[in-house]
Amino acid sequence: MNPVTPSPLPLSARLKHETADLHQQMHVLMESAQPFADRQRYSRFVAAQYHFQRDVEHLFDDPGLQAAVPDLQVRGREAAALADLADLGTSAGVVAIATADVRMPEALGWLYVSEGSTLGAAFLLKEVRHLGLDEQFGARNLAAYPEGRAVVWRRFVDFLDRPGLSPQAQQAVLAGATAAFARFGALLRRHFALA
Ligand code: HEM
Repeated sequence: MNPVTPSPLPLSARLKHETADLHQQMHVLMESAQPFADRQRYSRFVAAQYHFQRDVEHLFDDPGLQAAVPDLQVRGREAAALADLADLGTSAGVVAIATADVRMPEALGWLYVSEGSTLGAAFLLKEVRHLGLDEQFGARNLAAYPEGRAVVWRRFVDFLDRPGLSPQAQQAVLAGATAAFARFGALLRRHFALA
């Protein structure tokens, strides 16, 4: 009888499971930050989102990431967050970019965190409506991509799971995702003055 070798988990599943605690920490931080209590607090969330999106879109210039994710032009919410800040009558302040030295494969992990957060954004969008904000004003950064959240996410998962990334490269993607979660957490702490 041939021994059965368990097939390794696809990268998307590894990312989901191995960063589940970090995702949970985002919920805890959001609970402390209360970003939907009023427009002033929500503006702080959008500023954090803007800086994070800027970190992520900076990576779009990397030819390695372009090859791994060939539809980068439909992704990213930096411009949306900037427009939201203008709607809200505020600005993001100055924060140094965190990804100046990041490249593939870590870059793919950063993008995973940003793209994944578009799924949770569907829930956040509902919460922000009571502040009189929506996809056209103030909450563009939480809007679905024109093609729809699920379609764009599934396509990203297909890119993640394409064969070709060595075990070392996959580990680097995980490290990139960990760094991206840490960055979003640090931005939330900074903008909401949390410990
Ligand atoms: C309180 C705020 C948040 C809520 C309510 C929320 C909720 C959700 C939900 C419902 C999903 C879909 C889970 C699934 O389909 O299995 C999701 C996925 C995800 N979220 Fe969040 N989220 C929040 C904040 C964040 C933040 C701040 C980030 C990162 C900056 C983030 C990153 C992700 C990622 C990477 C995924 C994809 C998980 C996967 O691989 O399937 N989330 N979130």
